[in-house]
Amino acid sequence: MEFFLDTGLIEEIKEAAKWGIIDGVTTNPTLIAKTGRKQQDVIKEICAIIDGPISAEVIATDVDGMISEGKELAKIHPNVVIKLPMTIAGITALKWFSDNKIKTNLTLVFSSNQALLAAKNGATYVSPFIGRLDDIGHDGMALIDEIRRVFDNYGFQTKILAASIRHSTHVRDAALAGADVSTMPISVVKALFMHPLTDKGLASFLADHAKSQLK
Ligand code: G3P
Repeated sequence: MEFFLDTGLIEEIKEAAKWGIIDGVTTNPTLIAKTGRKQQDVIKEICAIIDGPISAEVIATDVDGMISEGKELAKIHPNVVIKLPMTIAGITALKWFSDNKIKTNLTLVFSSNQALLAAKNGATYVSPFIGRLDDIGHDGMALIDEIRRVFDNYGFQTKILAASIRHSTHVRDAALAGADVSTMPISVVKALFMHPLTDKGLASFLADHAKSQLK
């Protein structure tokens, strides 16, 4: 499974990049707004830190606007992936980007039918939002399962990018369900490292080592 960091904050990206486990970055208009900077500048800086897919989302809601914004974003760096919303316009623009060999990420996906539409038009990634489904009492992980089955039924190469991940159990379950990528905030990446028995075991090893040095 690939790990993407879901943030626009450069300090977080620099910190996590040192661990060697981050394959890419996803952003969205909310995450970019939190930086207080222009999307173009943020994406350019991220591309200089992480050598992998970097998703940048269009703001336009019409096909022509999405295509012209996406074209500008794609000029920033070859690793930029154009993030499009799951609308009729988004799916229509997606076809243009696929035909022009520009990588895409279809976002705001909440059903396997929406994922199927994205795969049919050649999306590179499809982003089902697990946490937001859980928030309204649905089963976000069941959607990952469904999409995996649908894509495997037809041999679609579109990657399942599990998004809106809120905790480490989401990552484990998305991996078990066969998601290709998990994108997550840095707090969740840090949680993946943690287990109380690791801390307890290490404390006891270090204490035993210290005792042995006294002899
Ligand atoms: O980037 C899309 C997604 O990961 C958003 O997550 O927590 O705002 O639902 P969240």
